[in-house]
Amino acid sequence: MSKLIFEMGGKGRRAFRFPKCDVPEVSLASVLGENNLRTAPPVLPECGEVDVVRHFTNLSQLNFALDTGFYPLGSCTMKYNPKINEDLSRLAGFAEMHPLQDEEDAQGALEMYYGLERALSSVLGMSRFSLQPAAGAHGELTGLMIIAAYHRSRGDHKRKVIIVPDSSHGTNPASAAIAGFTIKTIKSGPDGLLDLDALAAALGEDTAGMMLTNPSTLGLFEKDIVKAAEMVHAAGGLLYYDGANSNAILCKTTPSMMGFDVVHLNLHKTFGTPHGGGGPGSGPVGVVEKLVSFLPYPLVGCKDGRYYFEEKDPLSIGKVRSYYGNFGVLIKAYAYILALGAEGLDEVSTTAVANANYLLKRLTPAFDLPYGDGKCMHEFVLSGQKQKDENGVSTLDMAKRLIEMGYHPPTVYFPLIVHEAMMIEPTETEALETLAEFADALLQIAEEAKTCPDKLHAAPQNKPVTRLDETTAARNPIVKYTV
Ligand SMILES: Cc1ncc(COP(=O)(O)O)c(C=O)c1O
Repeated sequence: MSKLIFEMGGKGRRAFRFPKCDVPEVSLASVLGENNLRTAPPVLPECGEVDVVRHFTNLSQLNFALDTGFYPLGSCTMKYNPKINEDLSRLAGFAEMHPLQDEEDAQGALEMYYGLERALSSVLGMSRFSLQPAAGAHGELTGLMIIAAYHRSRGDHKRKVIIVPDSSHGTNPASAAIAGFTIKTIKSGPDGLLDLDALAAALGEDTAGMMLTNPSTLGLFEKDIVKAAEMVHAAGGLLYYDGANSNAILCKTTPSMMGFDVVHLNLHKTFGTPHGGGGPGSGPVGVVEKLVSFLPYPLVGCKDGRYYFEEKDPLSIGKVRSYYGNFGVLIKAYAYILALGAEGLDEVSTTAVANANYLLKRLTPAFDLPYGDGKCMHEFVLSGQKQKDENGVSTLDMAKRLIEMGYHPPTVYFPLIVHEAMMIEPTETEALETLAEFADALLQIAEEAKTCPDKLHAAPQNKPVTRLDETTAARNPIVKYTV
């Protein structure tokens, strides 16, 4: 483990030199009062400039990032984030605007907002979008509030149940619960797909709607989606599309063609904007015509070439975030869409699915594929159960060995319906050589599981830390140096 900065340097070393004081000196006690002064000097590192520069430069290189290596984290769509989008979102005309600036002085920003809404509506086949929600899960909550408001507006107060399949992303039932619904989980069929009998049994007069992602988190396209949509609608419910997996369907099909009423997108996946530390998220919500009135306000309209904030609809669920959403992220997504155009977006999906199928084909000789027929959409879920049973090597061991080999591991132990799950999503932005090297690495690991399992149990050996108690590391990180 590298040294902390507190453990470096020596007494009296400095990385700075103050200029000579050119104002009269004043004692701190006379300003703050004697009682408010420290009794002992603070414990601060004392280092020379070169030590400080090396320390922080080394720290900055400890993080694994998309810009440093392959990141096949299933369900997260860790695609490359084009740098030109960063430049565009930092243009002074955008970045230095005040959110309360007058409409007349904000025509460019409003045009961008309007253009992005139109583009998303057309790509996803929805009537309108709200760009306010700040993340995928926030979009889910917004969409569910719209579903609740729709039923309320019809005086249909008994619809309190949201149906989710057992392969759904964890945020789906969580968002539904926060929106005040009761959750009914239905089991997937033996093929990992929606089981229409289970759906029929779950539907009733209390059904508010069903939440689904298609392709599912197993990377499988729900072949019965149109039938399922008809069944939910016939029971009086609405269909919610978790669009976080839209990377697989861009310009191929749309949620509205599948029968969905409400959609959220993760711009920080499908539309190439950074995740987490690289910038905040954004989870726009789109709806079909009959739900437009319930969208959060403000929406931006355009008349005779002039952009303006539309009047609040009396049925609107209100605001779900301050001002207009994560504006800088919206600019990046719009730039991404304009740069690619419809043809480029279509190619995104084609390549994302082709890349996933290449890896699937290379890896299935060594790993189990519990669901699917050997073909997948943008991602797939393998199982490390065979390695566990035959060699005592867990999926966690293999993930740690991948870290040692310089890769970010896939998502592991999710979805819950696959034992020892490894969920792999390469995305369209990776070259064939990168995919081939990654497949070689995982196949080597499968061999090592047979020949030298202890190597996998002990991995990673070349990182600052080896195995952590992951829950404690996430919940109670030690971020303060104690003398
Ligand atoms: C299928 C799916 N739905 C919803 C979400 C939630 O998105 P967010 O993390 O932006 O809240 C994710 C995130 O990974 C996801 O993969």
